[in-house]
Amino acid sequence: MVRLVLAALVALQGAAAVLAAPPPPPPTGPESCAPPAPPTPPGPPSDHDHPSKEPRPWGLFVNNTIYQPVGNESVTYPRYVELEDGTILATVSMFGRTPAVFPIFESKDGGASWTHVSDLTDQVNGWGFSAQPALAELTAPLGGFPAGTVLGAGNSWSDNGTRIDLYASTDRARTWQFVSHIAEGGRPNTTNGATPIWEPYLLFYENSLVAYYSDQRDPKHGQKLSHQVSKDMRNWDPPVDDVAYDVYIARPGMTVVAFIPPIKKWILVHEFPVGNSSSHGSHYPVYYRISDSPLDFRLSEGLPIVVNDTIAPNASPYVVWSPVGGPNGTIVVSDADNPQVYTNRFGGAIDKWERNETPAGATYSRAIHIMGSQPDHLMIFGGETYDNMRAGLLTPFTATVVSLTETLKQ
Ligand SMILES: *[C@@H]1O[C@H](CO)[C@@H](O)[C@H](O)[C@H]1NC(C)=O
Ligand SMILES: *[C@@H]1O[C@H](CO)[C@@H](O)[C@H](O)[C@H]1NC(C)=O
Ligand SMILES: *[C@@H]1O[C@H](CO)[C@@H](O)[C@H](O)[C@H]1NC(C)=O
Ligand SMILES: *[C@@H]1O[C@H](CO)[C@@H](O)[C@H](O)[C@H]1NC(C)=O
Ligand SMILES: *[C@@H]1O[C@H](CO)[C@@H](O)[C@H](O)[C@H]1NC(C)=O
Ligand SMILES: *[C@@H]1O[C@H](CO)[C@@H](O)[C@H](O)[C@H]1NC(C)=O
Ligand SMILES: *[C@@H]1O[C@H](CO)[C@@H](O)[C@H](O)[C@H]1NC(C)=O
Repeated sequence: MVRLVLAALVALQGAAAVLAAPPPPPPTGPESCAPPAPPTPPGPPSDHDHPSKEPRPWGLFVNNTIYQPVGNESVTYPRYVELEDGTILATVSMFGRTPAVFPIFESKDGGASWTHVSDLTDQVNGWGFSAQPALAELTAPLGGFPAGTVLGAGNSWSDNGTRIDLYASTDRARTWQFVSHIAEGGRPNTTNGATPIWEPYLLFYENSLVAYYSDQRDPKHGQKLSHQVSKDMRNWDPPVDDVAYDVYIARPGMTVVAFIPPIKKWILVHEFPVGNSSSHGSHYPVYYRISDSPLDFRLSEGLPIVVNDTIAPNASPYVVWSPVGGPNGTIVVSDADNPQVYTNRFGGAIDKWERNETPAGATYSRAIHIMGSQPDHLMIFGGETYDNMRAGLLTPFTATVVSLTETLKQ
């Protein structure tokens, strides 16, 4: 989803990434104060059924500030991971600091309060962590790192190249150590024919780490989506296509992946600009693929998300799944340009997408999250829009939590 605004992008240093909730961990309640699995915690239902401006632990709220930018800072492209104990770690692409870093924030109360715990910095290139962060947790040991290790990745770039680098933290994101260069491309340049890479997404899957990313290095494709797999986080298998179209100017971008337990399938969402073509007014329409394996999306058909034959989400999508909403639960998709979310309660059936209102704002590459202990709680991260990244608005990094059940009625 790097749109074709090269100069701005390079000046700003960037944008996009991932997170990776481990596959389908049965929701485990946070150790201390989290309510048990039932979506509605004890307490006066009226206080929980309606978003409140006073964030309460494990409650519903709108635009709760995680971080207020200062000076020239601009925050966008939020990413997060929920650890197995319910702790949420969140970060953003941050422009306006040199060298660029990914500030890491922690919430232990469902997003009501946040603490800055570290900055994930580029320790090896001297280029900064320019944009497009990704976070994940090892839920089993890998490559000499214990279960519970927090992983961070992102795009480090300069005029000499783009590097998707992997870091690990064995102290819950307080300190970070460089692990490996996952992939490397040419300097950041969104013109077809240039060779950068962008927008990593990490998934811990079957005792391997999978790194998805957008890839301009193949001369047959303006851009395609690739992944690489590692069994030790240091040695990476060769890239495998996830989404690559014969039409050269097609630029599928910005992979995010989720598991859909009732049908035991995986969904990949991406944006799909093709020159100046548009789908119902969207120039970066959102497409998805459904696959038995998160390593085999190349074998699946690409499908557009279109609601009521009239509405198409636009750009930098994110996808999560919740058991709420029916036998197949609900697939929830966010885009870059709209406050609404797009939902599907029928296992991703192409004619079953709906659009639902939320009180959150539009945000470039807006991550959303279903809380492990409260699957009715849909968290929507907020930050700057794509168009306003350099406008100096000081839009805060925020968390909104809404009831998915109520959202499905909107
Ligand atoms: C903001 O950026 C301008 C231009 O690069 C610079 O002169 C100024 O010092 C920066 N301000 C802060 C607070 O960093
Ligand atoms: C880019 O590479 C050149 C040649 O190796 C080197 O002199 C320069 O310092 C590098 N710049 C950066 C920002 O890494
Ligand atoms: C970006 O890539 C295009 C295509 O390779 C090239 O023509 C152009 O010079 C590049 N721009 C920069 C600033 O490197
Ligand atoms: C998109 O439209 C603009 C303006 O009409 C044109 O200059 C450009 O070449 C078009 N790009 C593509 C990829 O068709
Ligand atoms: C669906 O689209 C039709 C026009 O094709 C419109 O009349 C109708 O209001 C739309 N329904 C919704 C729910 O947006
Ligand atoms: C669940 O999704 C699967 C796959 O799309 C579909 O075959 C099935 O009919 C769906 N069931 C319900 C109740 O939506
Ligand atoms: C939340 O913030 C967004 C801007 O990001 C704004 O558009 C929206 O109105 C706010 N919602 C509420 C309820 O204040």
